Amino acid sequence: MKPWDVIVIGAGAAGLMCAAVAGQRGRRVLVLERANKPGKKILMSGGGRCNFTNLYTEPDNFLSENPHFCKSALSRYTQWDFIELVNKHGIAYHEKTLGQLFCDHRSQDILDMLLAESDAASVQVKTRCEIREVTCEEADQGFRLQTSLGEFHANALVVASGGLSVPTLGGSDFGYRLAQQFGHSLVPLRPALVPFTFSDGFKLLTEKLSGLSVSVRVTAGGKSFRENLLFTHRGLSGPAVLQVSSYWREGEEVHIDLLPDTDVASWLMAMKSQQPRTLLRTLLVRELPRKLVQELQALWWSERAETPLAEWPDKQLLAVAKQLNGWQLKPSGTEGYRTAEVTLGGVDTREVSSKTMESQLRPGLYFIGEVLDITGHLGGFNFQWAWASGVAAGQSV
Ligand code: FDA
Repeated sequence: MKPWDVIVIGAGAAGLMCAAVAGQRGRRVLVLERANKPGKKILMSGGGRCNFTNLYTEPDNFLSENPHFCKSALSRYTQWDFIELVNKHGIAYHEKTLGQLFCDHRSQDILDMLLAESDAASVQVKTRCEIREVTCEEADQGFRLQTSLGEFHANALVVASGGLSVPTLGGSDFGYRLAQQFGHSLVPLRPALVPFTFSDGFKLLTEKLSGLSVSVRVTAGGKSFRENLLFTHRGLSGPAVLQVSSYWREGEEVHIDLLPDTDVASWLMAMKSQQPRTLLRTLLVRELPRKLVQELQALWWSERAETPLAEWPDKQLLAVAKQLNGWQLKPSGTEGYRTAEVTLGGVDTREVSSKTMESQLRPGLYFIGEVLDITGHLGGFNFQWAWASGVAAGQSV
């Protein structure tokens, strides 16, 4: 049997992009996908509208133990290159917020585009393919794959099997195990872009406020994000929380500034002299949802609920102000890989070429997308990494 030039494991964002680019260079490319159809995460992404890139993509939007690694691929295949491809396929899109580009219609448009590009390059995609074993006899003799669809041989093997996040959408440890089989090290894995859970009394509060969204600044692990926070039945979610979850470590506190544009201490002291008969909650409902103010009152100043500002001791007013600008909470954990959008950590990039994504330990072996230790912020950055790393490998295999 004639070996394939390239076998790509995983028909997700990075794998399909790589396959199309390699195919367009005349390579015979086979994509093997375990699931019953390609691109499941693409289809579910962005609430069904795929946040496919971000206008402001910069290396600073990515976490890695090797922060320089992503620069080369991101600069050689930029957000503008992907937008050009989207335009070529006539896909309608819009900027939602903060440079995040979403399809006007549905994520399927992006998947159809990748499949059309692959098809035009004569790429073969086989689904429902379970890979049992990958072997190679000699360092220069390519790879032999034993699968549920039979045996395949390839000169180059691209691992694009993604991370552990959301097993129902294809999350798997396959790529990490394969990397280790070839001597690669892993940067420890943990779920990221994931909601926080709570086991203390705060959980009751989040249940009561479930569905409520507030614009806040959330800080953890030395990093702050100014976006919306969402109370849920299990704890806290929303973009601000998902972003900061990538920097948070088990056991650490999270700081929430409920009024990020206001120095609450100065404001309350000024109001105390300007509107002395006003109640604190009356002031706060001008800035925050009433339901939230009611719960905060029960938590922080129930005994002064009916006390006009003039009768508050400064010290106590300032204590509430401090809480409003820096509410300290300790999550018990996160919702884990079940709902995490991405996996932090992965194949250590110090053993991979940043130009080609080829292993420095085994010629012909490539790693692209989420399986690598590159994790983007929320907002289309993870897909931009999948496209850029896919193109880098596709141009080299
Ligand atoms: P990806 O997970 O896309 O693909 C891996 C493929 O490999 C899967 O098809 C999987 O089935 C397959 N596979 C796994 N093991 C295998 C095996 N042993 N054999 C064969 N195949 C195997 N990002 C973003 O930028 N904008 C967004 O809007 C969103 N939205 C979003 C929503 C949800 C619900 C999730 C879970 C994630 C997002 N993301 C996102 C993150 C984004 O989906 C993710 O970063 C990319 O899909 C990663 O691309 P990869 O190709 O590396 O993996």
